[in-house]
Amino acid sequence: MNDRQSYRVRMTGISKRYNTIQTLDDVSLTLKPGEVLGLVGDNGAGKSTLSKVLSGAVIPDSGSIEIDGKAVAFASPADSRAARVEMVYQDLSLCDSVDVAGNLFLGREPRRKMLGMPFLDKPRMHGQAREMLDRLGIVIADTRLKVENLSGGQRQSIAIGRAASFDPSVLIMDEPTAALAVAEVEAVLDLIRTVSARGVSVILITHRLQDLFLVCDRIQVMYEGRNVAERQIEDTSIEEVVNLIVGRKFSARSAGRGQDNGVQA
Ligand SMILES: Nc1ncnc2c1ncn2[C@@H]1O[C@H](COP(=O)(O)OP(=O)(O)OP(=O)(O)O)[C@@H](O)[C@H]1O
Ligand SMILES: [Mg+2]
Repeated sequence: MNDRQSYRVRMTGISKRYNTIQTLDDVSLTLKPGEVLGLVGDNGAGKSTLSKVLSGAVIPDSGSIEIDGKAVAFASPADSRAARVEMVYQDLSLCDSVDVAGNLFLGREPRRKMLGMPFLDKPRMHGQAREMLDRLGIVIADTRLKVENLSGGQRQSIAIGRAASFDPSVLIMDEPTAALAVAEVEAVLDLIRTVSARGVSVILITHRLQDLFLVCDRIQVMYEGRNVAERQIEDTSIEEVVNLIVGRKFSARSAGRGQDNGVQA
């Protein structure tokens, strides 16, 4: 296996401009099979946009993406799903008025034929939904509950369960633990450990820096649309990560340049 093929994901030279804002400027990202990468940076650093490029929701102005050594060009999330890339978006995109099972199967509900007509196979859907939740260790008493009646953590679990059910080889989670209670955060982190142990590569975007040290193999720091640093998790500390996220700004201000604090431009 040569070096190129050993990467599950290889994004190179990704740029994206919105009007006057250069949201992404020549950004690269690599991910190995089963690796958990923490993607961090201040608000507006470009984390969600970079992830959306990988999920096909944003089309970059330039740059290239390879999955398992093969060049891909995603024009939509359906394209990335076909390449086994799934993303749990920051806003979750669940259907509030639909029940748990319905959300898990949205757009691919199991059907059976009666008198030649396809009907929603509800017992099968609820049975499969239960299996899906159990497999991921997600605790929800009843798959007939409407999603609008669930807690924030349960909603988060449904969004992750749905993404995981497509059998992804790459799972991107954008702020999956924002606004969760302690036990719910633990459940999401456990889920990340479970899927990565099965060989799924994970990108975790989070502002909860302590979580990086519980599940990530490596972190990548972005600042104003650029890569500024990358560290194996065992080679860094929470203090350094904080400095990498904000340090450049302060060193640039105080020293009039942006190369201090060991940050590589
Ligand atoms: N569709 C869009 N149109 C215009 N500007 C956009 C669009 N999407 C993102 N941006 C801009 O690009 C920049 C990066 O946004 P992005 O959402 O990627 O940041 P982020 O790192 O995910 O931030 P946060 O931590 O707050 O979620 C921001 O300045 C944002 O306003
Ligand atoms: Mg974001």
